[in-house]
Amino acid sequence: MEGAVAVGDAAGDGVAALERRLAAGGQGHVLRFWPELGGAARRALAAELRDMDVAEINRFFRRARGDGGSGAAAAAGLDARMEPVPRDVLGSASRDRGLLPRWESRGLAEIAGSRVAALLLAGGQGTRLGVPYPKGMCDVGLPSRKTLFHLQAQRLRRLQQLAEEQHGTPCHIPWYIMTSGRTMESTKEFFLKHRYFGLKKENVIFFQQGMLPALGFDGKILLEEKGKIAMAPDGNGGLYRALGAHGIVDDMERRGVQSVHVYCVDNILVKVADPRFIGFCLEKGADCGAKVVEKTNPTEPVGVVCRVDGVYQVVEYSEISLATAQKRGPDGRLLFNAGNIANHYFTTAFLKDVVNTYEPQLQHHVAEKKIPHVDITTGQLIQPEKPNGIKMEKFVFDIFQFSKKFVVYEVLREDEFSPLKNADSQNGKDNPTTARHALMSLHHCWVLNAGGHFVDENGTRIPAIPRLKDANDLPIQCEISPLVSYGGEGLEKYVKDREFRAPLIIDEDGIHELVKNGM
Ligand code: UTP
Repeated sequence: MEGAVAVGDAAGDGVAALERRLAAGGQGHVLRFWPELGGAARRALAAELRDMDVAEINRFFRRARGDGGSGAAAAAGLDARMEPVPRDVLGSASRDRGLLPRWESRGLAEIAGSRVAALLLAGGQGTRLGVPYPKGMCDVGLPSRKTLFHLQAQRLRRLQQLAEEQHGTPCHIPWYIMTSGRTMESTKEFFLKHRYFGLKKENVIFFQQGMLPALGFDGKILLEEKGKIAMAPDGNGGLYRALGAHGIVDDMERRGVQSVHVYCVDNILVKVADPRFIGFCLEKGADCGAKVVEKTNPTEPVGVVCRVDGVYQVVEYSEISLATAQKRGPDGRLLFNAGNIANHYFTTAFLKDVVNTYEPQLQHHVAEKKIPHVDITTGQLIQPEKPNGIKMEKFVFDIFQFSKKFVVYEVLREDEFSPLKNADSQNGKDNPTTARHALMSLHHCWVLNAGGHFVDENGTRIPAIPRLKDANDLPIQCEISPLVSYGGEGLEKYVKDREFRAPLIIDEDGIHELVKNGM
């Protein structure tokens, strides 16, 4: 066995077999520090390694690296093969305004029939944000101090209520929550502590995605500690394997779910189980749909939904030339402007096909990362300053290629997309402050649209300009509980022809602020 030592102790024959299997796969070095480990550490490492399919990991590495690591070979000539999303598969919340009521009522009817589920991708490590707990537990400093999980749960509750009111039947939206080895326990505890935010426990279903070891550029498994493998979740596209492993599609079928809205935990504005999006996809007879926002800046590092050789996929900004990214259509908009926000519609039937047939065909993407690891020769912990290895991930959008009827639904970024990626200290983008401001700006708009007004501290009306910022570049402080309004509806009775002084909070207990006058 290369670079390793004999492994003889209480763990006995089992470990000897493990040693042989690792050596056969060229990964024997992970037992290099075995003699230094105590009993508990040995048991933990042996358990971790026993669950690991080394041959499969090596195969994943070879396949992922086979495409040049960053998809370079596959991407050759990509620019010339790309076509934008044709108008006939595109629905737009701004350009098709007249159709929104129809899509919304179709979606609400499905929700009322308990045929819609939400599926949350919450297995990420959130390394950029850097908080020591799952991202969904983040409080970005809203007046209510609600966390991302809390906001999403309340949006689901409100939707159920809207559907029940319109259709007169009780309904529920099952909420599937994908976690990872790193986020499962704390996520479950958090939900338990908050009594599932008022949802029925049996309708909140947790399941865990898989993990893969981080590898050096040579394909060798890295150690996080002498007795611990550097493991990372296998990407948000690990969803499909996890759906199969945990019988989630069967559970959906048992519950009669036909449409699934899949989304990321970190978008504070996410319209969970959006009835308009669902209604649009149903009207189009789609099996797979992507919600997008318009990409307006050619150099914005966002993937775009497009067709390549006639097949839908997401093309990353890094895969195409600047000239292609800058191309404009006759309407003056960027030609490739369908910015992917990882917000998708799938039919349960499509998910079933993916799980049963297509998932093994999905290839891992390779992300080159700085991975802290134990040096195998010296035993020292290394904190690399430049990328020293790779993590292998599948992406949730990798299955677009298998769709038989794919559609795209475009929404306004300021209404629906503000992701939480970075800490406030890091840079000015996609952080708790921008997330908080995005939500309050949106809610300010809702109040204006419903006929409400804001006044300043002197009682003078503030111009009714949506998303107005004050002299300190801060939005009007305004927060509306999702239990009161899902998407701006139903606010007239609270705000029409009334004046408010910020901060304004409207929740299920009413209005909290200094109400100036009724008018
Ligand atoms: P990101 O790719 O932004 O990753 O995830 P992240 O873990 O949140 O943050 P960084 O990159 O470590 O800073 C986008 C969405 O996909 C989910 C995340 O939880 C988030 O909702 N995700 C990501 C998973 O569910 N599993 C994964 O393995 C990776």
